Amino acid sequence: MSLEKIRKYEFGNPYDTGAVVCDVRKQVGIPEGFKYDMNTETFTYTLGEKDMVFGLGETVRGINKRGWIYVSYNADDPVHDENKTSLYASQNFLIVDDGSSAFGIFVDNPGSVTFDIGYTDMNVMSIHPENNDTSFYVINGDSPLEIVASFRELVGKSYVPPIWAFGYGQSRWGYKTADDIRTVAKRYKELGIPLDMIYMDIDYMQDFKDFTVNPERFPNFESFVREMKADGIRLIPIIDAGVKIEKGYDVYEEGIKNDFFCKKEDGTPLVAAVWPGKVHFPDFLNPAAAKWFGDKYKVLTDMGIEGFWNDMNEPAIFYTEDHLKEVFGELEIIKDKELDIWGFFGFKGLIDSINNNPGDYRRFFHEFNGVKVRHDKVHNLYGFYMTKAAGEAFERNNRDRKILLFSRSSFMGMHRYGGVWTGDNMSWWSHLLLNIKQMPSLNMTGFIYSGADTGGFGGNTTEDLMMRWLEFSIFTPLFRNHSALGTRDQELYRFERSRDFKNIIELRYALIPYIYRECTKAINENGMYFKPLSFVYRDDERAGETEDQLLVGDSLMIAPVYEQNKTGRYVYLPEDMKLVRFRSYKDFDTEVLTKGDHYVKAELNEVLVFIRKGHKLTLTEPANCVDRLDMDRCVATFEF
Ligand code: GLC
Repeated sequence: MSLEKIRKYEFGNPYDTGAVVCDVRKQVGIPEGFKYDMNTETFTYTLGEKDMVFGLGETVRGINKRGWIYVSYNADDPVHDENKTSLYASQNFLIVDDGSSAFGIFVDNPGSVTFDIGYTDMNVMSIHPENNDTSFYVINGDSPLEIVASFRELVGKSYVPPIWAFGYGQSRWGYKTADDIRTVAKRYKELGIPLDMIYMDIDYMQDFKDFTVNPERFPNFESFVREMKADGIRLIPIIDAGVKIEKGYDVYEEGIKNDFFCKKEDGTPLVAAVWPGKVHFPDFLNPAAAKWFGDKYKVLTDMGIEGFWNDMNEPAIFYTEDHLKEVFGELEIIKDKELDIWGFFGFKGLIDSINNNPGDYRRFFHEFNGVKVRHDKVHNLYGFYMTKAAGEAFERNNRDRKILLFSRSSFMGMHRYGGVWTGDNMSWWSHLLLNIKQMPSLNMTGFIYSGADTGGFGGNTTEDLMMRWLEFSIFTPLFRNHSALGTRDQELYRFERSRDFKNIIELRYALIPYIYRECTKAINENGMYFKPLSFVYRDDERAGETEDQLLVGDSLMIAPVYEQNKTGRYVYLPEDMKLVRFRSYKDFDTEVLTKGDHYVKAELNEVLVFIRKGHKLTLTEPANCVDRLDMDRCVATFEF
């Protein structure tokens, strides 16, 4: 039993975060190999010259995390550049691996935890939880994959999505009416491009109120849901964390009546602002409030909805009433003063402090397992518990069908209830590469059903970026094209080369039996669907340094092109492989390549897939949606 290889240490009074599902016997003392400084409450570990550090789920930078500082403190920050330390998620699991031996650690602490992985000192990894109430797990094993399997046993089985969720989804912030959505469906159909989902962003709601549908813009919503489904398309609405403060709005009224909103020290509910204007935050950490909110999804599942995306659940705060007052107070003081340059920077800092202010996260409290806890100490649980509330409600209320669910914010444990998308990326080539690198780290932590906004969310995409991004995203379990309000339209029918786009999406559908089978295996066997090369080619130093190629399932390696104006790329082969260069599921050429470096041509419309030795890939005939796929049909087989 792999749990035997796990040792648990406790510091302070750890919260029961819900991340772990198994009992592990407690050890006394300090985790082996670590030093603990009582004054700074910091764990340190000396990294060997060859040590690579893998994990931390959704973060910036490389697959090997060595050489940067990462702070687990879920953040609503849309600019994921290299300088950032926090994104939307906190998955505090790491593996230290020198290529021949490895161990894992899991830091179960729901507050801010800083992982300095060779940033301050290139040879030292230090871990500093802001509140030292921590369960610290050390996981031994013979290889990274074995350690991953033990860790995943510890945290429980990953969420299983419905099979149709492996189809392609079109999204955009700004589909305002049912007719806007009908147009998307129609244009895809006209071009014969498969489509399984159209996502509904906040525009579908009445004044951005959760669990409402604007009746003028979406008349007869229930029959609209049916009409789309008859065409093979499921509508997937967004749900936001904040509940609009509005007299007469049932969710608000019930939340107030039952005392389900997060409160400040003085006992009054926190007033924050997000899309609907002023909101209260449901206390998802309070089981009664979670049950109440979870049951609300029924309003939409009763109308035929079968999937949701949970958003703004770090929680994102545009401002709080209290902090805004403070800011205005300060502005009053400096209003008539001459601003020198430092005064000006202070003024600017004041304005920038309005949204997602750390002080605001210290302003409100939860009833967590019957105990009053200040939000910042359990900050990273908020999105997890929102998604858990929904997932548990689906198990109660929707036993007849599997509901699609994924979230922006996450913590370990949430992987049992839903997937994640990686939030507001940009239409940048560097973010395509970031997407490639994030996937194996997410998979390590059990977030198998995951993906990014293909084509990029913020900024303007280009036709070639969209094409190259799709060529990677056809392998990600969650496969969605999403973009922000005001950016260039990026539905596939907006571009010239619609035939090539159709071919790429059809290739995805042809691959679905493989993708689905390999994801199911990763879920059931606590494995990984996307693996870094080094997890398989253990003694190959080059494999360890190759981060722009991934193993997909057991049989394939991919090497996406992620740079503009390139018609090929260098590929490192850790063993002999068979290259299949796809132009469509039925137009391809193959070639056997030997272990080593190769320059491989890949025109803009070509997808590179490498079959591993002793492995096989079969394709099915694509269909316009997953429900109409024949999963057992085989139209092409590639063997090596
Ligand atoms: C957030 C989400 C994004 C969504 C937008 C409007 O930025 O991350 O996906 O489109 O809110 O709801």
